[in-house]
Amino acid sequence: MNHIQLKNISKIYNATDSQAKSALALLAEGMDSVAVKAHTGYSVGLYDVNLAIEAGELHCIMGLSGSGKSTLIRHINRLIDPTSGQIWVDTAIDSTTPMPSVKTHTTAESAINILQLNDKELQQYRQQTISMVFQHFGLMPHMTVLQNVAYGLRVRKMSISERHETAKHWLNEVGLPNLESSYPDELSGGMQQRVGLARALATDTPILLMDEAFSALDPLIRNQLQDQLLELQARLNKTIVFITHDIDEAIKVGQRISILNGGRLVQTGTPEELRHHPADDYVAQFMRAKH
Ligand SMILES: Nc1ncnc2c1ncn2[C@@H]1O[C@H](COP(=O)(O)OP(=O)(O)OP(=O)(O)O)[C@@H](O)[C@H]1O
Ligand SMILES: [Mg+2]
Repeated sequence: MNHIQLKNISKIYNATDSQAKSALALLAEGMDSVAVKAHTGYSVGLYDVNLAIEAGELHCIMGLSGSGKSTLIRHINRLIDPTSGQIWVDTAIDSTTPMPSVKTHTTAESAINILQLNDKELQQYRQQTISMVFQHFGLMPHMTVLQNVAYGLRVRKMSISERHETAKHWLNEVGLPNLESSYPDELSGGMQQRVGLARALATDTPILLMDEAFSALDPLIRNQLQDQLLELQARLNKTIVFITHDIDEAIKVGQRISILNGGRLVQTGTPEELRHHPADDYVAQFMRAKH
């Protein structure tokens, strides 16, 4: 069952409609994003991206720097609006109900086009459906670990003690018991990101967005967090969009991987599919010598 569907998403940055149109026309002729930038002066974030992410899937978005990964993930929580295309999200999917992995590529009736949400609906969507883990942790320095994790729950109808109980539960789940009253700057990077993960999980949203969430960590700590994420996901069944520019990380954590190049989605598939049937040389180069 599809949870998130991007349909023909293009993003040309800082261009008016008619300026974007000329850039899109060049892209449609096959011009690459570097040449389009040179010709028109506009940056191509994404071009004609079609992607269906299934409920309960851990989906990696991979590509070199500037390929459009952050642009893509920011469309899902509408930090960015596309130049053209649609984004459908099935808001009836609840992370507490394990979803069967049925591959359909239709849009369910309960899916909504998130570009049509008004301000209030958008706020609700962001609070109830999406949570995010950031590359540089994004913790509030003047708050304790417990307060940081409980902070995202303030919009819920929960008493302070319930919020603190929930925060404690999730700190325990990510392997950080007994650090509740510490402050973020007293923790290592790996611990801080565990707090970031606990904060995102505590909100109990069905979709988790992770933009290079482990990229700032040392390899050993990074490995531990990857294991922790996989272990949690086996129980939580969330829909996770995980961005990385590291193919080894993508192969380890991703059930499927989407590869971006110059704003175009060149291939989506399991690590096996990408290895055995790379769509082009760019994918083949990433997958070379991976087993
Ligand atoms: N706010 C912006 N204004 C103008 N151009 C932008 C903006 N954000 C991104 N871009 C451009 O869009 C393209 C895709 O950028 P994006 O940040 O999505 O790439 P990325 O794959 O996340 O890269 P990285 O691995 O470096 O984070 C790049 O050419 C970038 O310069
Ligand atoms: Mg990025």
